[in-house]
Amino acid sequence: MTVRPLVILPDTRLRLISEPVGAVTDEIRKLAADMLETMYDAPGVGLAAIQIGVPRRVVTIDTSKDENAREPRVFLDPEIVWSSEEKRVYDEGCLSIPEYYAEVERPDRVRVRYRDLTGATQEIDADGLLSTCIQHEIDHLNGVLFIDHLSKLKRDRVNKKFAKAAKRGEAA
Ligand code: NI
Repeated sequence: MTVRPLVILPDTRLRLISEPVGAVTDEIRKLAADMLETMYDAPGVGLAAIQIGVPRRVVTIDTSKDENAREPRVFLDPEIVWSSEEKRVYDEGCLSIPEYYAEVERPDRVRVRYRDLTGATQEIDADGLLSTCIQHEIDHLNGVLFIDHLSKLKRDRVNKKFAKAAKRGEAA
């Protein structure tokens, strides 16, 4: 497993729409393993493949927040098939937008259909942090960032800050 460099705002690759996984090959298994390694190293609770520059519909998540009791999850081609009417607000962050956090409102619970690393189709009912996280990561697969859910004023401020930092050749 290899820790890979993260793609950071304003890198335009973050706006790509990722391609379906197709057959679960050794390349995909290696990608998922590298994503988990990169996510734990950061550390973060979720990662989409495009965040290491690979435009494929692969998501890794571990919401356990406990180094000694890890619960790594890998979702291939995840899609939301149901979401609750009730909403939940969570203070979100993103490894591609370092050290910026803001409250985002999303459906409280979702049902997600995906394939596992054996290629089998699975469904999961997610609530709490897992629900927020999986919605955030599926957004990445569609070129959407959590700042897109904020007011234009807030989003412009973040974009400007990261564009300036990139120009100076440093993190924001
Ligand atoms: Ni993110």
